[in-house]
Amino acid sequence: MFMDTLTAIFTRRSTRHFEDRPIEDDKLRTILEAAMSGPSCVNSKDWAFIVVTERETLDKMAEANGRPAQPLKEAAAGILVCGDMERAFERAKDYWIIDGAIAAENISICAQALGIGAVWLGTWPQMERVEKQKELFNLPASIVPHSIIALGYPKDDITAPRESRYDEGRVHWNKWQ
Ligand SMILES: Cc1cc2nc3c(=O)[nH]c(=O)nc-3n(C[C@H](O)[C@H](O)[C@H](O)COP(=O)(O)O)c2cc1C
Repeated sequence: MFMDTLTAIFTRRSTRHFEDRPIEDDKLRTILEAAMSGPSCVNSKDWAFIVVTERETLDKMAEANGRPAQPLKEAAAGILVCGDMERAFERAKDYWIIDGAIAAENISICAQALGIGAVWLGTWPQMERVEKQKELFNLPASIVPHSIIALGYPKDDITAPRESRYDEGRVHWNKWQ
């Protein structure tokens, strides 16, 4: 059963505690398809994804990112979203960062729609984390870790409505002020 898009966006929340049960392969593939369905600069699709389901490797990813990445120790899967510098738009390669973030957010929203909990674990631009993930996966120089999304069936209900974050003070119609 899928949630509709707006329900998934409005109910999404970071999930840091997971049940000890695997995520089905077809759901992981749907999540990856969502990641690759986002826009990218000049349609460069300048990303690559390392999907980890092995306990030992998930624990090593957690250690490489330090204390804020502890949810990986309970997660059934972790997706390391990477930028592929060989595919990045030649005239403005920094767009890879935006393309990676879009992919990571699509993973989060798709997981929510499937009833799977997710939390984004910041990696780039904290270069110590980036280097440790590169080392862990023996990545080629052109592949740069961007973020990790930890995934798993949630211990808590993630479908309950959340308080709206809409803030009229952040919105400027037609002109500033
Ligand atoms: C770029 C980025 C980095 C983040 N890094 C971490 C992290 O390392 N560990 C963690 O537990 N949550 C991390 N988060 C999740 C945020 O803490 C969370 O999104 C924020 O507190 C809002 O809560 P919500 O996701 O439930 O709406 C990160 C989120 C983003 C967008």
